[in-house]
Amino acid sequence: MRETKRLVLTSDHAAIEMRQAIAQHVTSLGWAPVDIGPVTPDSVAYPAMGEAAARRVAAGEFALGIILCGTGQGIMMAANKVPGIRCGVCMDTFSARMIRAHNDANMLSLGARVIGIGTALDVVEAFLATDFEGGRHATRVDMIGAIETG
Ligand code: RB5
Repeated sequence: MRETKRLVLTSDHAAIEMRQAIAQHVTSLGWAPVDIGPVTPDSVAYPAMGEAAARRVAAGEFALGIILCGTGQGIMMAANKVPGIRCGVCMDTFSARMIRAHNDANMLSLGARVIGIGTALDVVEAFLATDFEGGRHATRVDMIGAIETG
């Protein structure tokens, strides 16, 4: 079990309903989500939201983050520009388990226009229930970090 069960949650305007369903679901699983919005359906730029959440994970304020946009792709790309962030888009529970177990992902991205809420909740649950396996995978994750530092 991780030391902290806090996670940060955000999206752009394309994923507000799914994000709110995720907030409820992770709360029922014993996590404390900090939802940094947006709350209105007005258009908001996904890079700004992805960066905001990623910086708080990278700073150690949150162990994990969950981010969403229409495809999950744009906000994932933005989050991964923040040093220390390993974020993947998952559409299935196998990938969600693997990005934790093998890649030590600290952020999960979802596409609200790609998968339904039922699948999204299953993917989130798989992500949160899986720990990093370490071992040979740690060497490879370290190699990802080394790319950031050149
Ligand atoms: C917003 O229309 C859309 O571009 C955004 O949600 C996302 O899919 C970008 O990757």
